[in-house]
Amino acid sequence: MEPPSHPDAPETSAPDDPHNKPESPRKHPTSEDLEVSSYLEATLEGEPEPEAPPEPPAHPQTVIVLDFGSQFSMLIARRAREAGVYSELVPYDAPWDDVRKLNPAGFILSGGPASVYDDDAPHLPTYVFESGLPILGICYGMQLLAHQLGGKVEPSNEREYGHSVIHHASDSPLFDGLPASLPVWMSHGDHITEVPAGFQPFAHSDSSPIAAMANDSGYIGIQFHPEVVHTRDGAAILKNFLLKVCGCTGDWSAGNFIATSIDRIRDQVGDGRVICALSGGVDSAVAAALIHRAIGDQLTCVFVNNGLLRKDEPERVVDTFHRHLKMNLVHTDSEDRFLDALTDVTDPEQKRKIIGETFIRIFEQEADRLFPQSPLARATGEGSGVRDTSPLARATGEGPGVRAADFIAQGTTYPDVIESGAHASKSKVAATIKTHHNVGGLPSEMTFQLVEPLRYLFKDEVRKVGLELGLPEEIVMRQPFPGPGLAIRIIGDVTREKLQTLRECDWIVMNEIKKAGLYRDLWQAFAILTDTRSVGVMGDFRTYGHVVAIRAVTAEDAMTADWARLPYDLLARISNRIVNEVPSVNRVVYDITSKPPGTIEWE
Ligand code: XMP
Repeated sequence: MEPPSHPDAPETSAPDDPHNKPESPRKHPTSEDLEVSSYLEATLEGEPEPEAPPEPPAHPQTVIVLDFGSQFSMLIARRAREAGVYSELVPYDAPWDDVRKLNPAGFILSGGPASVYDDDAPHLPTYVFESGLPILGICYGMQLLAHQLGGKVEPSNEREYGHSVIHHASDSPLFDGLPASLPVWMSHGDHITEVPAGFQPFAHSDSSPIAAMANDSGYIGIQFHPEVVHTRDGAAILKNFLLKVCGCTGDWSAGNFIATSIDRIRDQVGDGRVICALSGGVDSAVAAALIHRAIGDQLTCVFVNNGLLRKDEPERVVDTFHRHLKMNLVHTDSEDRFLDALTDVTDPEQKRKIIGETFIRIFEQEADRLFPQSPLARATGEGSGVRDTSPLARATGEGPGVRAADFIAQGTTYPDVIESGAHASKSKVAATIKTHHNVGGLPSEMTFQLVEPLRYLFKDEVRKVGLELGLPEEIVMRQPFPGPGLAIRIIGDVTREKLQTLRECDWIVMNEIKKAGLYRDLWQAFAILTDTRSVGVMGDFRTYGHVVAIRAVTAEDAMTADWARLPYDLLARISNRIVNEVPSVNRVVYDITSKPPGTIEWE
């Protein structure tokens, strides 16, 4: 879809956008993964013209959330999906070609920390106006609408922050079915003093004479945040925008997601082979099940025992996946390789990088062993083996561009993508909080293409998809476990002895949490082996042992979390058992830090 010109579009026209050029007929039909298409183009250079590719599957109607940097941006996408409308958060300066592929039905402009008058204030791309689609600007998003369409935004004397009440007397579809006064949550300094031509104000609060404005083209601005729970009717307000203004059907669900994902996976993979990294966690299990549903035996799962797993986990994983999922499963025992690579490494990011790198190299070896000659290698008449498949070599066609296995699948989820900064705007430096090994920690010279079918799903959505796919609850409802495993729960260097100690502590925590019936109520509960030792007394003896921390958190997704108010009796049982049953530990502490400012894992 080309963005039609729109009467309200500002004078400036979009610069020539290279993305708008007609697509090459050879281009791989799917794909969000540009590397896949450039790879195919490179390897097929000089080959006879292939048959026209099938039409790519239609993307579900999407409401695009343009991210201007608010800490609540992701919540907007969540709320939209809860209302049955597929939504993605994209950087505010995402090119139209990326947005177009998502089949947009409307735009929501998030809030953000900037002022429209800042020198480097982020602006709305012109395609948003040119698309002719409805727009909902929230807070900074509203101020941008006003500013870019000729209204007036001014700094307030006082910042309006926290609870407020807005009053409206209008027939705006946004407040359809809602009372005339609404409790809302505000967080802004600047405010609008003059609406742009064609707009009408339709709500006010004590501090904001213009708390909402709209025009006849479906452009709406609201000064408050409907996405946060403190705005009582926020979900209804967003739903009104999505259904009544954008005209979305509101029937998106995990079920639809499965159907479109299957088409996309088939489309991306063709008759290639996929290897899926199974960790035993929820995400990789659901990703594997989804891919298996799409391409059956083209999928082989590989489970790498990195020696950093919980007690009995390798055996449990192999058993469960073999028993329940009935997939081709290869099991490698690579403990020595990981622990050797981690010797004397204490820096958390180093640990993650080493684990990510070792992990991917093992996968490459397995791929070569399992699939000595890929379909692409056959198509171009080239031999097998790992070659120079760097992006440069692929794009220019200079390198051989052929490798042994084609795709690696991972259960990367949306919070991983956002937190690793992978979605961040090109024009701002997003702070990398932690390198998630299934995103940022992968070596750049990786020779696999990625299949990440859960890349845009929140954890609870992943679980719904898992259940819909018929996975057993014991897998789907399992608490998350990080890819780098216990290595990021041992502060300081990682040794076999420390791993053994932590495994025992972790086992006790889990056992007691389950006995207390709290396993499902908690996002995660686990033990951390700190690098602190403390003096204690046991019987008549002085001890000098490890300090173990217990972390238990509640969360809706891992973006924010609160420490769990576990019953004291339960904490007492955990503590007693650990100091009595685990020889080198003599003190247990409880972590009472929420996220933010803490993270869930300690490293
Ligand atoms: P943090 O510690 O960043 O963790 O608050 C958020 C969630 O992500 C999990 N986590 C990871 N998962 N690979 C993963 O697959 C990783 O490298 C990784 N690091 C953290 C963590 O357990 C929590 O659920």
